[in-house]
Amino acid sequence: MDLIIKDGTIITATDTYKADIAMQNGKIVLIGQDLQFEGADVVDASGKYILPGAIDVHTHLQMPFGGTISADSYEAGTRAAACGGVTTVFDFVIQKKGQGLIEAVEGRRELCDPQACVDYAFHTIITDLTPAVLEEFSASASYGVPSFKMFMVYMGLMSDDGLLALALERSRETGTLVAVHAENRDIIDKRIERLLAQGKTSAWYHYESRPEFVESEADKRAIHIAKALDAPLYIVHLACKEGLDEVTKARDEGYEIYAETCPQYLHFTNEVYKREDGKNWVCSPPIKAQESQDALWAGIKRGDIQTVATDHCPFQSYEKDWGKDDFTKIPNGIMGIENLYPYMLSEANKGRISFNKAVEVCALNPAKIFGCSPEKGTLVVGSDADLVVYDPNKNFIISKDNMHSDVDHTIWEGVELKGYPVMTFSRGKLVFKDGEFVGDPGWGQFVKCRGRKV
Ligand code: URP
Ligand code: ZN
Ligand code: ZN
Repeated sequence: MDLIIKDGTIITATDTYKADIAMQNGKIVLIGQDLQFEGADVVDASGKYILPGAIDVHTHLQMPFGGTISADSYEAGTRAAACGGVTTVFDFVIQKKGQGLIEAVEGRRELCDPQACVDYAFHTIITDLTPAVLEEFSASASYGVPSFKMFMVYMGLMSDDGLLALALERSRETGTLVAVHAENRDIIDKRIERLLAQGKTSAWYHYESRPEFVESEADKRAIHIAKALDAPLYIVHLACKEGLDEVTKARDEGYEIYAETCPQYLHFTNEVYKREDGKNWVCSPPIKAQESQDALWAGIKRGDIQTVATDHCPFQSYEKDWGKDDFTKIPNGIMGIENLYPYMLSEANKGRISFNKAVEVCALNPAKIFGCSPEKGTLVVGSDADLVVYDPNKNFIISKDNMHSDVDHTIWEGVELKGYPVMTFSRGKLVFKDGEFVGDPGWGQFVKCRGRKV
């Protein structure tokens, strides 16, 4: 036996109980009472919680976007992940025009592999849905990437409704999953044109250019198409009440519609765009008003939102400044990979949701929906020893100085958390301890996903 974590409280999505947990060769091999093995290292976890490592199913690391490249490399992003208790990161690969899906993924694997500090998997952003690409859905799934994202916005990346319908049909045939970034491009374009003509250029007008109905219209359209084709659909970074209402309705009718939201939509409201530094919160879809935030929390509690992930796509302050006189020039995207699990667990510790629910949306459901359970997302004999030792009594104030990414600011500055991770293990290897990253770039392995199993 390599390591025993003793006397902690194990919390999974379904159970909370006191036990020891033993690991060997990167796997959990025994969970029980009073475990003793000669020669094994022992971690005393009395008074601590032992949780499955989180899975952040939505990140954009060193991704070309917004006229630049997102500020965290694979190394910096996965280092920050480890320090926030995230032990698996799903990154988005952008398919270049004319490129095959597996070819696109392999290119990013080459970049990611020597840098990854925790395990990683991919979704592919489809930008060129040719018949050959549709044909390749099966092969991509066999390769371990059974999920594809389509943008309903962003010039050069977006797909129209016809392409979305073709992809959804093919996903149904191949047991794969299409994810959408849902906003209405036409309405956004016209609103931007008018706002700029009126000299309305500050970050607030980013929100004004794509308010609640701009997102919910696209959520409803995508859901309508998926329902008609009886195809599953995963809505990424859902941020508005009306879109969520449509998800709830479709799920109640028995359709396989999944919704993901992000910590930034759960903690902030659109008021942030009125701040002097409002540019730092510019992301799409933008953060909405209080009514949506309340609805998102209710959706998590009801189970209509299955996953919380970050959409980690940070840019440095000087890049965000490109839009100081024109909000459309602010690169879209913000940070969160190191804040996801501590924030959701802190909300649990403060009583808003249960710890089991926090684990469900940050670990178990992501693993089930994308097909890497039970190796990831839970703590059972045979699972990867990806786990977090959490101190419910350690208070923590987020600051850029105690984060581990390469970004020069954080939207989470000053946010007070109740409880914080004190150790993260990735396949049995200690990668984070007491505020310090102690892992190694290159340790992380590609996770071959098998597709949804819910
Ligand atoms: O503003 C965002 N969300 N940037 C990252 C790309 C995307 O839309 O997911
Ligand atoms: Zn998006
Ligand atoms: Zn994204």
